[in-house]
Amino acid sequence: MRVIIVESAAEVAQVAAERIARAVRERRAAGAAAVLGVATGSSPVGTYNELATMVRDGGLDMTGVRAFALDEYVGLAHEHPESYHAVIHRTVTEPLGLDPALVQVPNGLADDLDAACREYERAIADAGGVDLQLLGIGSNGHIAFNEPTSSLASRTRTKTLAAQTRDDNARFFDSLDRVPMHCLTQGIGTILDAHHLLLVATGESKADAVAAMIEGPLSSMCPASALQLHPRAAVVIDREAAQKLTLTEYYEHIEAHPLPGASAA
Ligand code: F6R
Repeated sequence: MRVIIVESAAEVAQVAAERIARAVRERRAAGAAAVLGVATGSSPVGTYNELATMVRDGGLDMTGVRAFALDEYVGLAHEHPESYHAVIHRTVTEPLGLDPALVQVPNGLADDLDAACREYERAIADAGGVDLQLLGIGSNGHIAFNEPTSSLASRTRTKTLAAQTRDDNARFFDSLDRVPMHCLTQGIGTILDAHHLLLVATGESKADAVAAMIEGPLSSMCPASALQLHPRAAVVIDREAAQKLTLTEYYEHIEAHPLPGASAA
């Protein structure tokens, strides 16, 4: 796992956006449009803003780029401002100028939720898989809505949100009891299929989860530790999120001495 520690949340956003832009350009140079996996929540907002600026300034062409969201609440109308359909539209599709027909979010309103999950897996496979998956991390170590004890081999499915996650996300709703209980989420196995993983985290509240993800044991108790299994996973964090790491000097040493000709993955 590549660990990139920077000084501020703004720098996290810049570094992450540059890596996403590079993935889009590389795919374009190979004659195809990239398939991105996109996260919701606060963590990636700065990254999306940076990407939107690049698109506006003409430095990044997003034509034909597809996007798949990680997750969605069950039972929230797509028009609800906190549904991930609405959040992805507001923070990703519109600012990055993506074609809405090429952006998919799991359907938390489906009559048959299991069938919707299977369809979602099929849609990702039909698109040729995800080139780069952007991730945040929950304060309990979740990625997407794979809560602690989620199977490390899981695929897209329904889950019950952990109390900690509902508490954390209550800030987006009028009150805690408005936060849905259930969700559809890409599984950890689904996420690990992406060609590149890029996780961003900022702030002290993520420090324990970040340390468990990078330096803890591989364990379903910290679903994000599954990134340890991925050959091309990068984590971009600020100093506050990095404060519980024990090998900070080593990670900085690696970044200061890149192997000549090594890929930037
Ligand atoms: C959302 C998602 C979640 C968030 C995580 C962190 O699509 O996948 O795993 O990334 O809950 O949320 P924030 O960034 O709001 O702290």
